[in-house]
Amino acid sequence: MAFANRSVLIYGVLFMALTVSHGATAQKLVIAHRGASAYLPEHTMEAKAMAYAMGADYVEQDVVMTRDNQLIVLHDITLERTTDVARQFPGRARADGSYYVVDFTLAEIRQLKVNEGVSTRSGERQPVYSQRFPLDKSAFRINTLSEEIELVQGLNRSTGKDVGIYPEVKSPAFHRTEGKDLSRALLEMLKSYGYVSKQDKVFVQTFEFEELKIIHDELQPALGIELNLVQLMGDDEAYEWMLNAQGMTELARYADGIGPEKAMIIPQDAASTDLSVTNLVALAHANGLKVHPYTFRADPGQVPGYAADFESMLRLFYFEAGVDGLFTDFPDRVVNFLQGE
Ligand code: G3P
Ligand code: CA
Repeated sequence: MAFANRSVLIYGVLFMALTVSHGATAQKLVIAHRGASAYLPEHTMEAKAMAYAMGADYVEQDVVMTRDNQLIVLHDITLERTTDVARQFPGRARADGSYYVVDFTLAEIRQLKVNEGVSTRSGERQPVYSQRFPLDKSAFRINTLSEEIELVQGLNRSTGKDVGIYPEVKSPAFHRTEGKDLSRALLEMLKSYGYVSKQDKVFVQTFEFEELKIIHDELQPALGIELNLVQLMGDDEAYEWMLNAQGMTELARYADGIGPEKAMIIPQDAASTDLSVTNLVALAHANGLKVHPYTFRADPGQVPGYAADFESMLRLFYFEAGVDGLFTDFPDRVVNFLQGE
């Protein structure tokens, strides 16, 4: 919302416009956000296999490095939100109370039990999404990036499909302060698994523009690869300079796409009767950039008031705002929606 008010034009779109028929659904991408994370604990192999089976076009991996330089798939650079690290490794937290992945070896991390994401804000350990997979049931583990790539590539072979991967370089500047070049390790691994060109089904994403430049200008040339790169954007001042013609043109020197927070396209408080859509998609498309906003959830309270329901929200983004793909915790719902259009 701050973004919409600051920098970008807003167009009114009447809902009447939604009755137009839609053509190119086949090109619209479904990106499984941390797997089928609405149904199974995020980033587990189970969640990834489920997302694949639901028909996602791409399966997302957030990538973090361990103390012994192994790449694992985890959203946070810390372990306490999604594992039982505090119970298994008391005394290993830093002064801020968090248990950092970079302080643990892969062998230690393998011992952790993964749970649905929790919040401790209320003083109690509670699931962030109350209707999702129950806490502390069954047995889930953290997997490595190589295991996950082999899962997707193995399923591609056994099903004959060609599902892509969508790894995020997570907090690269933090990793550099810890003496770790996360991007280089990720790109080397991708190359070893055959991801070398823009024709290969991979998007490499990061929130950090300085890292995107390093990847584009230094690491990829050094490795002799050229992948699709995506600049993620939060709805805050750090990304403001990108949100005009000059900034987007500069960004397009390094990126093939953008991944904005979805409120940067339709403000969270937009009116349902006269929808406000920013010009971000048009600006990106004018510079040859794909647009993949995040994150689309159908949980109670997660559909903004301007949309009647989850599917109406999808229709607005895919066919009114014109995005090329989107990140969702509910890949089945989005696949079904696109098949019905
Ligand atoms: O990477 C795009 C999407 O995943 C949003 O970011 O915070 O969930 O990794 P995050
Ligand atoms: Ca991500």
